[in-house]
Amino acid sequence: MPKQPESDYPVSFDLNFVTGQVTCSGEKIQRRASDMQSAFYDRQALQEAILGGDPLIYEFYNNKFITSTSDMSIAITRLFPGKIGDEYYMTKGHLHERNDQPEMYICVQGSGYLLLDTLDGEFRAEAWQPGTITHIPAIWAHRVANTGSDVLVYIGIFHAAAGHNYALVEEKGFAQVVVEREGKACLLPHP
Ligand SMILES: [Fe+2]
Repeated sequence: MPKQPESDYPVSFDLNFVTGQVTCSGEKIQRRASDMQSAFYDRQALQEAILGGDPLIYEFYNNKFITSTSDMSIAITRLFPGKIGDEYYMTKGHLHERNDQPEMYICVQGSGYLLLDTLDGEFRAEAWQPGTITHIPAIWAHRVANTGSDVLVYIGIFHAAAGHNYALVEEKGFAQVVVEREGKACLLPHP
């Protein structure tokens, strides 16, 4: 029997559920305040944060498992606690380029919201705590906000072919923001 390509063999790695650190060697991407110019609604607070040290908002490890017949991918994100103005740290948010590609998100540490928006009039916010698993249907843009005081760690599982469209989210924005009011996290219509 011919030997399979190396990429067709099983692969394992370890994820630390508390810290979000992983042992795999996939690419690591970091997003600072300056990478999120159009994400936070309070532009003045954003500029002050950038000038004040340009804080790291989140980082993720992206690992593709490309075999001769499949393209499963996993992304492990560490979203740090903090706010820009009164808006909690969040991810840029994206839509999949392909409209037939869903994703599974699994919250493993921390608390916050998964925001979902069709960019076409429909919005949902899923409250997240460790163990919450959300299926994201293909046409929903997705973004996570960390409302806790610790790092929020989550896993995304998707096909590499899904693709990421950040531009449409930057252009249209999400319908609601997650902000602090009287010491509590709440969702409000985008100002
Ligand atoms: Fe996605």
